[in-house]
Amino acid sequence: MRNFSHCLRGFAILIAGTTIAASAHAADLASDTAELVKRGEYLARASDCVACHTAAHGKPFAGGLPISSPVGTIYSTNITPSNEFGIGHYTEQQFSDALRHGIRADGANLYSAMPYTSYSVFTDDDVHALYEYFTFGVKPVDQPVPKTSLPFPLNIRASMKVWNFLFLNKDTFQPDPHHSVEWNRGKYLVQGAAHCSACHTPRGFLMQEETSLELAGGQVGAWYAPNITSDATSGIGSWSKEDLVDYLRFGRVRGKAQAAGSMGEAVEHSFQYMSTADLEAMATYVKSVPPIHDSTDDTSRFSDGATSSELAALRGRDGVKSANDAHPTGSELFQANCASCHSAQGQGSKDGYYPSLFDNSATGSRNANNLVATILNGVDRTTTAGQAYMPGFGGNPDDINALSDEDIALLGNYVLRHYGNAHATITVQKVAEVRKGGPSSSLVALARAGIGAAGAAMILLLAYVTVRSRKRRI
Ligand code: HEC
Ligand code: HEC
Ligand code: HEC
Repeated sequence: MRNFSHCLRGFAILIAGTTIAASAHAADLASDTAELVKRGEYLARASDCVACHTAAHGKPFAGGLPISSPVGTIYSTNITPSNEFGIGHYTEQQFSDALRHGIRADGANLYSAMPYTSYSVFTDDDVHALYEYFTFGVKPVDQPVPKTSLPFPLNIRASMKVWNFLFLNKDTFQPDPHHSVEWNRGKYLVQGAAHCSACHTPRGFLMQEETSLELAGGQVGAWYAPNITSDATSGIGSWSKEDLVDYLRFGRVRGKAQAAGSMGEAVEHSFQYMSTADLEAMATYVKSVPPIHDSTDDTSRFSDGATSSELAALRGRDGVKSANDAHPTGSELFQANCASCHSAQGQGSKDGYYPSLFDNSATGSRNANNLVATILNGVDRTTTAGQAYMPGFGGNPDDINALSDEDIALLGNYVLRHYGNAHATITVQKVAEVRKGGPSSSLVALARAGIGAAGAAMILLLAYVTVRSRKRRI
């Protein structure tokens, strides 16, 4: 008996011991998973998955955001772990194939509106962390999204295979031993998660990124993502590393630039959440990108213009207009619509909340696209530094603030002549184009001309245009 009870006790201790060990193991596993989920969440933020995969006023990641392209609307999909409507049934391999190679679980190709060409550099570890996050860290939303149905031949997803064959680099990131760990981390983030080049690198005829012109500037829908190579005149060679870190975190650098449009969104939804170490790493890499000089730039866009005012001349008038003076002048339009914030002489407010209109990349650039886009769409960006808000003047014609294309050209040219780059001009056609959402691609022209199969295959690539015309979420 003694022996038996001894045995029993021993058994109990054994069981208790195993349970303790097992729960310790479970706790380890749980904290490993929690750690991975956290890392996945950080990467998802840095990659801005939510920007495209959330509809206006919709649940995060439940998809349904319409992304317009000249040939039809592509809807982002539900990437919550819902089994029926989302990616709950995706294995890690299938998730990795979608993310890095643009292949859906059913084997069909994704349109490149999903930026898998940038995400292809993701390491296996990072894909794993993202998978854990989208499996355990995101709430399933059982809700369908509208189906994307582009017209023939764009509905043949397999044609993306041709494009992938030509342009998709399937290699994950390979560190360069000649550079520091920080530089390599920066390059990995800039090319992958933060995909700066998706907007800042010009695109070729087939909408592929021109890798030899890395970060030399590109049109992104209504906005122009400027040259951010290290060239001192055409690029941001004059910026310090701290300037760039501040810009990515707050969306502005006084006396240089502000972030509106898709850059404002990227700062608000993504970059401001990145760690200081990661922002510094990205700045280190960006500052090392070889300079690309545009020979039409003779001065830096950050150093153009000076304080100026025609107010005195205006005041000198008696206020009665002659018949052929019925239309307001550029100066009058400026005083009526802009001076209240940017001040009568364009120098902005003392605290810098309202920026000066000289020493400002939006007015100092030879390409006045972003001045037009700002007047039409305004600025709305919230970071830890608060909200930067300027109303847009492009509204409906019955909106009292709305300005016509003619008014904006007149006003814009006044701003350029007085505060900005005197060599730049804004035509009424340019304003109309930006109002429409930016220039359309040469591929559209090809497609319209109906040049047959080759043209048709190319139109498929138009999906790419969509990356550049991300709709606002709000
Ligand atoms: C610039 C917009 C954009 C961003 C950013 C983006 N996606 Fe997508 N994604 C899309 C679109 C659009 C589709 C659907 C494309 C199609 O139908 O061919 C898609 C499809 C997918 C799919 C396939 C889903 C399915 O229904 O089978 C997955 C998985 C996915 N995205 C995950 C992600 C993750 C994870 C991130 C962030 C790391 C991300 N996406 C960032 C636009 C985007
Ligand atoms: C979704 C498109 C998009 C992405 C992604 C993007 N940018 Fe931008 N960027 C823009 C646009 C558009 C502007 C012009 C904004 C304005 O003038 O208000 C801009 C402006 C800038 C400027 C200011 C240049 C100037 O002359 O005013 C810098 C610097 C910059 N971006 C750096 C980056 C870096 C670094 C990354 C990646 C970490 C990045 N951007 C990612 C679209 C983008
Ligand atoms: C109600 C105040 C207000 C009015 C009116 C206003 N602005 Fe602004 N403007 C701002 C603010 C705020 C910013 C953004 C500052 C920031 O990004 O931190 C801004 C930014 C700008 C920029 C830089 C945008 C960029 O992306 O780099 C330009 C150019 C500009 N305004 C021109 C104008 C012109 C021209 C008018 C008249 C049509 C005008 N503003 C009217 C408040 C205003």
